[in-house]
Amino acid sequence: MTNRPDLPPEIARRRTFAIISHPDAGKTTLTEKFLLYGGAIQMAGQVRAKGEARRTRSDFMQMEKDRGISVSASAMSFDYKDFRYNLVDTPGHSDFSEDTYRTLTAVDAAVMVIDGAKGVESQTRKLFEVCRLRDLPILTFCNKMDRESRETFEIVDEIQENLAIDVTPASWPIGMGRDFIGCYDLLRDRLELMDRADRNKVAESIEINGLDDPKLAEHVPAHLLEPFLEEIEMARELLPPLDVQAVLDGTMTPIWFGSAINSFGVKELMEGIGDFGPEPQPTSATPRQISPEETKVSGFVFKVQANMDPKHRDRVAFVRLASGHFNRGMKLTHVRTKKPMAISNPVLFLASDRELAEEAWAGDIIGIPNHGQLRIGDTLTEGEALKVTGIPSFAPELLQGVRAGDPMKAKHLEKALMQFAEEGAAKVFKPMIGSGFIVGVVGQLQFEVLGSRIEMEYGLPVRFEASQFTSARWVHGPKDAVEKFAQANKQHISYDNDGDVVYMTRLQWDIDRVERDYPEITLSATKEMM
Ligand code: G4P
Repeated sequence: MTNRPDLPPEIARRRTFAIISHPDAGKTTLTEKFLLYGGAIQMAGQVRAKGEARRTRSDFMQMEKDRGISVSASAMSFDYKDFRYNLVDTPGHSDFSEDTYRTLTAVDAAVMVIDGAKGVESQTRKLFEVCRLRDLPILTFCNKMDRESRETFEIVDEIQENLAIDVTPASWPIGMGRDFIGCYDLLRDRLELMDRADRNKVAESIEINGLDDPKLAEHVPAHLLEPFLEEIEMARELLPPLDVQAVLDGTMTPIWFGSAINSFGVKELMEGIGDFGPEPQPTSATPRQISPEETKVSGFVFKVQANMDPKHRDRVAFVRLASGHFNRGMKLTHVRTKKPMAISNPVLFLASDRELAEEAWAGDIIGIPNHGQLRIGDTLTEGEALKVTGIPSFAPELLQGVRAGDPMKAKHLEKALMQFAEEGAAKVFKPMIGSGFIVGVVGQLQFEVLGSRIEMEYGLPVRFEASQFTSARWVHGPKDAVEKFAQANKQHISYDNDGDVVYMTRLQWDIDRVERDYPEITLSATKEMM
């Protein structure tokens, strides 16, 4: 099903999405089941290490060390029925919100996973807000229905009230906790029963001819059937019916109930992503928007991962194709530097293995190994000077000075920091006066991850120290005015890794003063990646 019959069928069948959830709601388990259904992995358990690694801080560091795991999970492609799914992983920890934001610029929809016993948790809410900024369609999966959970109406109400979005039930659970036997699929009038004995079995569908069908009573015990029928009646009265356009606009979310660990509800959710996905959307760019069906290939970098193999300092730029049909070996123009790049060894991420991508279509995510030319926000085209917009770089909220444990290694540190800055793992500022660097992050844990990666990947122990500054703002204005401003405020000025001027302070008062005293200058908390 597509709303765009004019799209080439290969593009129309693509669904590129991310999963948003609070840690422990079941994202890893659900991902695993997607891959299992998609035939991408043979056995559940292969992406498990990741979920477990997320439990504790030290384990999380271990995961960061074990680059292989987190990398293969960055983007995964699999087929199910008529669709090609591209699942883009969002970093699990709240400290990586910036990375998450950028990831969400590369998808067309999000699946929100909530734990049926816990409802909407803090991290879910934050991620939801980011999706809302982009008007992304959101499909909801209420997980762990095999355990004691909240009342169905309570869950739906909580989502509606907490997130201010209309909720329409796509399925309705029958029984709860130990009594949970399955769901009624309201979209297809089917009964889906859960098999507790075999967790990897695709649930059995039973065709039902509406809720009056006597077949229902053959499969649902009487003590569950009656309350279920009452609830359904109430649901139909109280909850809005499915409005496909509202789902696409991001103002309504369909909800499925299930149990990822039991592979239950997963199939319906996948079908839902196919139905309401939607297909690859246009990408905003200057001087014009890019449509997926354009025959010329274009794409943009939303993530860079360095040191995937510590022996080679290679990096992989994750590119979302915005338009066209890409073939391996194509020459694309790197718009920022205007240089041609032959894309000879692009990678498609098929579950746990990287594979050479012979071809890819608008909507797909490909990995391009490179030596640092490709940065976050870069656009690739077949020659036209287009620049994808809307990939922001946020002002860091925490700043610290950083020094090499061994002062002789300062140059090495600079190189390492620049690499991480390009990867988007941290902001790196070089003060105009004095030596050393200031590193800026959005969450404390990023300092730890950064320290451990510099030590591991560059053999360089580092020390973080308090910085006199707490805020960083990019300085915009006519070139002369910026230069004059920088000279007059040297002790507050740093340069970021692109050489752009940044004003640092610990006082809001300073920021207000600059805005008052320098009418030509504006300070901003974000900078669009160039
Ligand atoms: P996350 O990636 O969102 O952090 O969650 P993850 O999938 O790792 O799941 C968190 C915990 O919830 C895991 O248990 C997992 O087995 C469990 N879980 C996932 N789906 C379901 C479900 O449908 N029903 C029930 N009852 N549990 C579910 P754990 O004990 O932390 O790990 P493990 O020992 O099972 O691996």
